[in-house]
This record gives sequence, C-alpha cells and structure tokens, in this order.
Amino acid sequence: MGDVAVDLGGGAMLRSFVPDDADAVYALIDRNRVRLSRWFPWVDEATDASSQASWIESHREEPCRPNGIWVGEELAGACDLWLLGRDDTGEVGFWLDEGFVGRGLVTRGVQALFAIGFDRHGLHRTQLRAGVDNLRSRAVAKRLKMREEGVLRGAGKVGGGLYVDLVMYGLLVDEWQITR
Ligand SMILES: CC(C)(COP(=O)(O)OP(=O)(O)OC[C@H]1O[C@@H](n2cnc3c(N)ncnc32)[C@H](O)[C@@H]1OP(=O)(O)O)[C@@H](O)C(=O)NCCC(=O)NCCS
Repeated sequence: MGDVAVDLGGGAMLRSFVPDDADAVYALIDRNRVRLSRWFPWVDEATDASSQASWIESHREEPCRPNGIWVGEELAGACDLWLLGRDDTGEVGFWLDEGFVGRGLVTRGVQALFAIGFDRHGLHRTQLRAGVDNLRSRAVAKRLKMREEGVLRGAGKVGGGLYVDLVMYGLLVDEWQITR
C-alpha cells in the first residue's frame, strides 16, 4: 500500500526499504554515527543489521513506509514522511551519508514525498522540525519554501541524552500547489 519508488533524476531513486536493505542501512548509520548522533536520538539503538531489519519490518504496514535514497545500487541516505495522528499532517525526516551531501538528493526526495503526501494521502500540512543549529537541514526547508513558524524549546532529544531547540517549518497544501 505504502510502497514508494520515485526516480529523482541523475541516477538517484527514492525507494521504500525492505528487510533485505538492513545491512546497507546499518553500514551507513555506523559510518555516520557521530554526525547523525548530533541530531537524532535513535543512533545509539542501531547496534547491528538485525536492529535495522526489525525497524524496517515494524514500519511495513504504515501508509507511508521509510525510504532509502539510492544512487545506482548504492544507499546514500534516508528520507521519510511520517503521517501524524488525525490532523492530515505529515512530518518529513532525512539524513545522508557525508559523501552524498551537496547534490540536492534530499531536496528532491522531500519534493517527491510532498507530492505523495498531498496527492495520495490527502494531507493538509507537512512539517519539518530542525535543530536551530542544523543549518543544512534548515536550508532544505527554505529551499522547499516551507514557512518558519517558531522555535520549540528543548523539544528535540539527540544523542547522549541532550536536548536541543527545534525550529518548526510548515507547508500547507495550498502553498505547495503554488510552489510545486
Ligand atoms: C540535512 C542534510 C540531509 C542536508 O543535506 P544536503 O545535501 O545539504 O541537502 P540536499 O540533498 O537537499 O542538497 C542541497 C545541496 O545540493 C546542492 N544541489 C545540487 N543540485 C541540486 C538540486 N537539483 N536541487 C537542490 N539542491 C541541489 C544545493 O546547492 C545544496 O548545496 P549547498 O548547500 O552546498 O549550496 C545533511 O546535511 C545531513 O545528512 N545532515 C545530518 C542529518 C540531519 O541533520 N538530518 C536532518 C535532521 S532535521
């Protein structure tokens, strides 16, 4: 139901993870552990490939499953749209291997997920929460014409049990239709 397979151009593809991707996911997280820990709480829980297989399997029935960004056969990162509660709102999340930063992969991945969220799932709103110091993530939001809505104090728990302030960005369906 929630399968994603979108050509992002330039040999890149956004595709839903399957359990067989677990080795590649774990290897990429392990290689980027320090930089990902700065912004995500789940990195310490990624202990081996089987932890990733379980994670992929546990999200199999969701309307919008977690996705990898692939360049050729190589996994470059992840780009997800989580459907939240009953408010017709979806939240995007993403990360890239350091070697794939700077190529527009996540901007194109999120654009594809916006189209899926608004067109296929009837969303009214999409949002992104980015650490106030996470300038690259905030640049993605700006590139996608998301509106900066405010700062959520201490709302993000990251690696090492630290809390960071998050900037909330939002994009409503009417705004997306103008900018798409
Ligand atoms: C956040 C993160 C995914 C952003 O990666 P990114 O590569 O800067 O973002 P994009 O993939 O959208 O690429 C944008 C860059 O590619 C360039 N680019 C090239 N082709 C492009 C295209 N077709 N479209 C858009 N940008 C393009 C842009 O100019 C920009 O480069 P610049 O900032 O050096 O000018 C990355 O820094 C990361 O993995 N950080 C750690 C995890 C993280 O913080 N995740 C987010 C938590 S909220």
